[in-house]
Amino acid sequence: MSKAVRVAVLGLGRLGTIHLENLIETGKNVVVQHIVDPIETLAKEKAEKYGIPSWSTDPKVACMDPNVDAVIITTPTQTHAELVTLAAQNKKHIFVEKPITNSLEEVDEVLKAINENNVLCQVGFMRRFHPKFMQAKQQIVAGKIGKPVYFKGFTRDNPPDKYPISPKSDFLVKSGGIFRDLAIHDFDLARFLMGSDVVSVRSSGKIVMNPSMAAYGDIDQASIYLEFASGAVGDIESSRNSPYGFDSGCEIIGTEGAIQIPTIRDQELTVLDIKGTHDLGTIFPSSLSQAFATEINAFIQAVLEGKATLCTEHDGVAALQIAVAADKSFKTNAQIELDKETVMNLRNKMV
Ligand SMILES: NC(=O)c1ccc[n+]([C@@H]2O[C@H](COP(=O)([O-])OP(=O)(O)OC[C@H]3O[C@@H](n4cnc5c(N)ncnc54)[C@H](O)[C@@H]3O)[C@@H](O)[C@H]2O)c1
Repeated sequence: MSKAVRVAVLGLGRLGTIHLENLIETGKNVVVQHIVDPIETLAKEKAEKYGIPSWSTDPKVACMDPNVDAVIITTPTQTHAELVTLAAQNKKHIFVEKPITNSLEEVDEVLKAINENNVLCQVGFMRRFHPKFMQAKQQIVAGKIGKPVYFKGFTRDNPPDKYPISPKSDFLVKSGGIFRDLAIHDFDLARFLMGSDVVSVRSSGKIVMNPSMAAYGDIDQASIYLEFASGAVGDIESSRNSPYGFDSGCEIIGTEGAIQIPTIRDQELTVLDIKGTHDLGTIFPSSLSQAFATEINAFIQAVLEGKATLCTEHDGVAALQIAVAADKSFKTNAQIELDKETVMNLRNKMV
């Protein structure tokens, strides 16, 4: 690998723009060589704005570009399987936004393409790169709280369409639902911090504030109970109803102590004035924006050094399995055991 990694960004929407700007502003040893979006004006304007040498409307062009070493896939989830496979077959290293694929049925082909072509893959679970969660992981690994026995996590997203920073309904319709799109971050964080895979899931939920979600079979409030291979248990709250802006946090209880991260919003300005108003903050809390920059730089570093990423394709599949089980549990009102053989297989590959 030359001194700088040459990347192509596929998909220039919300996440594509975040990663593109981080690569340009904070990226070390990286050159954005090519950008792609089927919306021609978007690709052309961003290429001009950032002085990017090549742009196109077809991801095949970027994946076949000999001047590209790695691709950043930030396209709608339904396209991930096809684009990860295409990139791997063209020997490009891959950063793909979560979830790794839209369904478990697509996973085998994607893993085969990555494995056969010997490329690196990192899945976009940026909380692993958030300063507080990273610190929590270090403390747990150092044995500060003994053996982790309980995980409690939450993610509260802005209500659909309510604020300028809210997710739009047309995104949510195609998002794959609350378990695959939102709670999946907590599923990955739970595995990461507990150092153990999830073997059983029970979930429930309902529409609390957004009746229009019924039309596409989604809900805005969910609770998920998890059992880990280590014997630990946990629960997760997942919500699209936060009236105060995006928020997330967790607690890990161990045999000898606990770690508490009650919120990731504390780097935001919160004004509680006489009228009781406060600042909603930006689309993501600033500490999460920092995590986005750290994760993409970690990917570039992994490619440069030719070493495994800190959130591999196997982590991506494990989180998707939990999300699919949570969705099934919600729909069937039953506790779902994850496929033990697959879980064992993934556990052997755990960081
Ligand atoms: N890590 C996170 O916290 C986080 C947050 C939001 C979204 N995401 C994920 O990021 C992905 C993108 O979400 P988004 O909110 O940026 O969506 P978006 O709709 O804002 O942007 C997607 C872009 O991809 C383009 N596109 C569509 N098909 C394409 C193709 N075949 N090739 C190239 N470009 C194509 C679209 O024109 C659009 O500009 C999703 O998988 C989503 O789950 C992750």
